[in-house]
Amino acid sequence: MANTLLSLENVYHRYSISRDIFNDISLNIKEGDFYFITGSSGAGKTTFLKILSSSLKPTSGSVLFSGVNLNTIPQNKIYLIKRKIGFVFQDFRLLPHLTTYENVALPLKVQNKKEKNYKKDVIELLNWVNLEHCAHSYPNYLSGGEQQRAAIARAVISTPKLILADEPTGNVDYENSKKILSLFSEMNKLGTTIIIATHDESLISHKRASIINIENNGIRIRSK
Ligand SMILES: Nc1ncnc2c1ncn2[C@@H]1O[C@H](COP(=O)(O)OP(=O)(O)OP(=O)(O)O)[C@@H](O)[C@H]1O
Ligand SMILES: [Mg+2]
Repeated sequence: MANTLLSLENVYHRYSISRDIFNDISLNIKEGDFYFITGSSGAGKTTFLKILSSSLKPTSGSVLFSGVNLNTIPQNKIYLIKRKIGFVFQDFRLLPHLTTYENVALPLKVQNKKEKNYKKDVIELLNWVNLEHCAHSYPNYLSGGEQQRAAIARAVISTPKLILADEPTGNVDYENSKKILSLFSEMNKLGTTIIIATHDESLISHKRASIINIENNGIRIRSK
């Protein structure tokens, strides 16, 4: 029986008093599992990922990461949780003053790793996501799909415990989206828990995974 990586207990969330996004949701995310999050535009997929990643505190309820309650952990210790998570943002959030190579290497750099120990890995990963020609370019000079692949490379480079990916294939063609899915699948085989919010039915059909569907301010889970 797999351990629980993340637990949501009676979570409510609203951005304004006029509209609930989540109305009492509880679930367990199992370590090493693979999940898709589905739901119509505006249902709350990005909000859900932000709550899971400890970057958004729900209006009420508890989120536990490896048993640690995010409500009670001191603010200055949250980075210890965030360090275990690779987040692919829907809007990429690459740093404009860093090159593609520097953006992808950033999670390693902030962990005080030495460049001589990671340079080869970063270049290899850039090659793998077909970005070798962009390594020294700044994000503003990349196409949408290239920025998306750079954001994915940055999220996976440090082999985090959990990957949260928000529409990671929204800007790439079919071949690249298959490649991205196989990258996540390989990481999952090595033990990383993967959670992907997507509208992309073909992505979902290519992978056996549990589905968390967000609708009517609640969730429905279909286990694989
Ligand atoms: N920071 C915010 N302040 C106020 N309302 C917000 C905020 N972020 C999101 N919302 C609202 O919350 C709802 C859920 O947004 P969210 O981004 O989670 O949806 P989503 O399912 O990811 O949609 P999409 O498929 O379009 O990405 C939307 O109605 C949105 O307008
Ligand atoms: Mg979204």
